[in-house]
Amino acid sequence: MSLLDLAPVVPVVVIEDAGTAVPLARALVAGGLPAIEITLRTSAAVDAIRRIAAEVPEAVVGAGTVRTPGDVAAALDAGARFLVSPGTTPSLLTAMVAAGVPYLPGVATATEAMTLAERGVREMKFFPAEAAGGVGYLKALSGPLPDVRFCPTGGITPANARSYLSLSNVGCVGGSWITPAVLLAAGDYARIEKLATEAAGLRTSP
Ligand code: 3PG
Repeated sequence: MSLLDLAPVVPVVVIEDAGTAVPLARALVAGGLPAIEITLRTSAAVDAIRRIAAEVPEAVVGAGTVRTPGDVAAALDAGARFLVSPGTTPSLLTAMVAAGVPYLPGVATATEAMTLAERGVREMKFFPAEAAGGVGYLKALSGPLPDVRFCPTGGITPANARSYLSLSNVGCVGGSWITPAVLLAAGDYARIEKLATEAAGLRTSP
């Protein structure tokens, strides 16, 4: 099964305290969002991935903000089950292809998507989605590139997520709104679970 089809929303998590990782992952899974992207932007990120991979097997934990082959190696060593990058360099793509787990390399233009499609990649992250052209841009890409599917991320909110999810070339969206820093700092996992439940219902709700 494709990463893009696990859930309508992939929570994009910036984690400051690895001690919050396990209860956070349990709350997201309970809310119906099993695919969890931990961004490699903080010193706690790799440890957080390691803890979730070890203690929350029902979660599909992956690494985001993967920028270098070294990031790929660190993520895999921690147990990451998928990789997401904001953009794509030749060396990063080579490392992702070799990783043996699903990956969503980042693109923002038709040329970048075509360059990856030439290498056989058919699923990508569209980033930064709102700033790079949003729903209109993605819809326009579906004509010439009907075989490429995207996970738009960057500026997605509960208000605009449904418009993205209605596009034929969008499998899921990514966003940080489900795990705001203030709720993580407060340990408010009940509220996070509620945000996850609402996000999980985005594809089917009217
Ligand atoms: C990402 O890393 O994909 C984005 O920074 C998440 O974007 P958002 O904070 O606008 O949801």
